[in-house]
Amino acid sequence: MKKLITFEGIEGSGKSTQIKLVAEYLSRRNVCLIVTAEPSGTGIGRKIGSILFNREHNNMCAETEMFLFCAARSQHVREIIMPAIKQNKVVLCDRFSDATYAYQGAGRGLDNKFIKLINDYSSMLLKPDLTLLFDLPVEIGLQRANKRNDNLKESSSIDRFEKENMDFHRRIREGYLNILKNDPDRFRLIDANRDVETIQKDVRTYINNFINLQD
Ligand SMILES: Nc1ncnc2c1ncn2[C@@H]1O[C@H](COP(=O)(O)OP(=O)(O)O)[C@@H](O)[C@H]1O
Ligand SMILES: [Mg+2]
Repeated sequence: MKKLITFEGIEGSGKSTQIKLVAEYLSRRNVCLIVTAEPSGTGIGRKIGSILFNREHNNMCAETEMFLFCAARSQHVREIIMPAIKQNKVVLCDRFSDATYAYQGAGRGLDNKFIKLINDYSSMLLKPDLTLLFDLPVEIGLQRANKRNDNLKESSSIDRFEKENMDFHRRIREGYLNILKNDPDRFRLIDANRDVETIQKDVRTYINNFINLQD
């Protein structure tokens, strides 16, 4: 049984924090899993990511952005995700196709039909079995993301997306909530405006229930 679990939400919503914690927890329980991320899940994807996130590329058009994320996804699905699924592993993935609809669709205004055409080929029609959507006000998410970047002490760590205005991020938040509305069974909506441990409890409950149901 396929077990692709994706983590979605705006910048700073806690995806990377929560995926790491739940992966450690599941590994302790001897669940066979991999943790991966988009677009950085492959070597080629990391190179594509360095083009995508480069702050100097502020003239990148939405179509280019979408093709690049989908190029990274094409590689990721074929090189990492599909082989792991074939080995019956649980795949925990930090962002996947929903992010393209939220960012390049709702955020940048690209037509969903255009995204679907390209993304269906890129993703090999692979759809997450469960998606955790971390939702919180964009002001709080961006504050957290900025604080994280300050801690990294690299001025270059604020990427092209984090630099976008509040309206862009609000459209993405709404975009995600709309995707959820149209596919409620796949999603679990998580109030990400709480402390890490409380959120992690919910994450563990949702994933445990899902894995047990599937077995
Ligand atoms: N529930 C939380 N409350 C406060 N700070 C958090 C919480 N979850 C994560 N953080 C911090 O916020 C920043 C962004 O979290 P991160 O997991 O990197 O978000 P994302 O991967 O969704 O962009 C990090 O510095 C992290 O330590
Ligand atoms: Mg992250």
